[in-house]
Amino acid sequence: MSTGRAKEKVRIHIRWMIRRDMAEVLATELASFDHAWTEDDFLRCLRQRNCIGMVAETDDRVIGFMIYELHRSRLHILNFAVHPEYRRTGIGRQMLGKLVNKLSTHRRQKITLAVRESNLDAQMFFRQYDFKATRVLRKYYEDSGEDAFQMEFRVEEEHAEEMGEGSVNRIAQYEEN
Ligand SMILES: CC(C)(COP(=O)(O)OP(=O)(O)OC[C@H]1O[C@@H](n2cnc3c(N)ncnc32)[C@H](O)[C@@H]1OP(=O)(O)O)[C@@H](O)C(=O)NCCC(=O)NCCS
Repeated sequence: MSTGRAKEKVRIHIRWMIRRDMAEVLATELASFDHAWTEDDFLRCLRQRNCIGMVAETDDRVIGFMIYELHRSRLHILNFAVHPEYRRTGIGRQMLGKLVNKLSTHRRQKITLAVRESNLDAQMFFRQYDFKATRVLRKYYEDSGEDAFQMEFRVEEEHAEEMGEGSVNRIAQYEEN
């Protein structure tokens, strides 16, 4: 969805999510998904030791979030959205860049996620940043029985060597914070 704000530069700050962000995170969640997470879903997830919340904020408003899990050899995105009023202004790209910056060739080498088969916008977004669909997860979603595509992004040795540890891909170059 694009709005009058599209392409206008929005200055954002990306930081860890805190409890006080919940109302705005939920507003973006509800505006983004038919089968939205509840506050309880967020809290249950964030209570896990390996689960991390990140938000993007403008001067006065949280307008995007990402929830991801740390695994031994990968990062797994569980939930990710930018408020519809702020889409297509590069916020998703900057948040993804933060995550890519956490990859390295000798530790966590990939980012994985599941995306609904019907969510073409998200598929286009991730494809733009070299994520590949690797598997079909049949009837993955309990709510609708819909299939998902598993998508993944891998650090490539030559990228890591070219750009140095911690900035392994062109997404990282796009990161503007
Ligand atoms: C997916 C999502 C987080 C992307 O966030 P965003 O801030 O709008 O993305 P960006 O502005 O950083 O997009 C960067 C590039 O990705 C591609 N892209 C992003 N959205 C796209 C779309 N709907 N269609 C085609 N390409 C798209 C474009 O190349 C875009 O660059 P451009 O705007 O210069 O053409 C956002 O669309 C969203 O919140 N969707 C609803 C929730 C969702 O589906 N989350 C993912 C669950 S797996």
